[in-house]
Amino acid sequence: MADEVKKRVFSGVQPTGKVTLGNYLGAIRNWTPLQEQYDCLFCVVDLHSLTVAQVPAELRKNTLNLVALYIACGLDPDKSILFIQSHVHEHAELAWILDTVTYVGELNRMTQFKDKSRKHADNINMGLMNYPVLMASDILLYRTQYVPVGKDQVQHVELARDIAERFNSRYSDTFVVPECLLSRTGSSIKSLQEPTAKMSKSDPNDNAVISITDDADTVRRKLRRAVTDSDTDAHCVRRSEDKPGVSNLLNIYSLCADVSTDEAERLFEGKGYGYFKDAVADAVISVLQPIQDRQRILLEDKGYLETVLKRGAERASHIAQNTLAKVYRKVGLVPQIR
Ligand code: TRP
Repeated sequence: MADEVKKRVFSGVQPTGKVTLGNYLGAIRNWTPLQEQYDCLFCVVDLHSLTVAQVPAELRKNTLNLVALYIACGLDPDKSILFIQSHVHEHAELAWILDTVTYVGELNRMTQFKDKSRKHADNINMGLMNYPVLMASDILLYRTQYVPVGKDQVQHVELARDIAERFNSRYSDTFVVPECLLSRTGSSIKSLQEPTAKMSKSDPNDNAVISITDDADTVRRKLRRAVTDSDTDAHCVRRSEDKPGVSNLLNIYSLCADVSTDEAERLFEGKGYGYFKDAVADAVISVLQPIQDRQRILLEDKGYLETVLKRGAERASHIAQNTLAKVYRKVGLVPQIR
């Protein structure tokens, strides 16, 4: 029938530090087409960011920058619900209830928790451990079917599934059990300096990472310095397991220039690395520049951003309130008379 309900999609990015080219090609860019097919919510997960030390003024600025970036990348506030996590208080409240059906052992086993504990050994706070429960809350509040995430977040979505199933079997059917939507392309953009590792926004080596806000000169400089290989077969632009650097650049080129990697290989046959790297830079710049221009204009229009955020929070709250009320009832909390 005509009014078949669209399936729901939820995803989010932390407003921490820089959004990388990898985040864009691997995540945000793949979200835009989903808006046509699904009922989408895209969230700036500011509460998650508090699990590592933040400078308050910077967090505030990064949060608004990320909202503007979402829109600049093509997320459309008329098609999707765009909002800031802390504007919908139900996220933190549901997380508390979910905490009571999550075991310490489960959280202790999470790879990201172990990694971050190692990296921030002086600040292993409860929030860091609880991070996946808050993420489960984000997802479950909206009865989300699909969660588009990168490979590194699959474990967290699986935990959300376990929590949903456990709650449902303990208290009767309440939550939709979500699934990952892994993007086929771009989910594996690697570091420019260490091309076997993911391009990560927390990489201390600035040359390893292209930030979505890097200007043309910076992009070109970083790509010129990108690690290729030093074997005798050097200056042969092709994908190969023993050429992770070149393969990564070919992948970036193909995603930015919108050609297949085979086609990209053909294009650079017989060309040197200098020529190749400049072409990759041109392709990256041609993708980033229009986004940066749009983001700048959006950030100048505070009134517009406020309107978008107000409406996003209202629409998200409407769904979230509904779910939370149901959950409170199921677990036996006395409803408040209003
Ligand atoms: N943990 C995710 C990341 O670091 C961000 C996130 C928080 C998220 N809540 C979410 C992603 C809910 C998808 C759905 O990438």
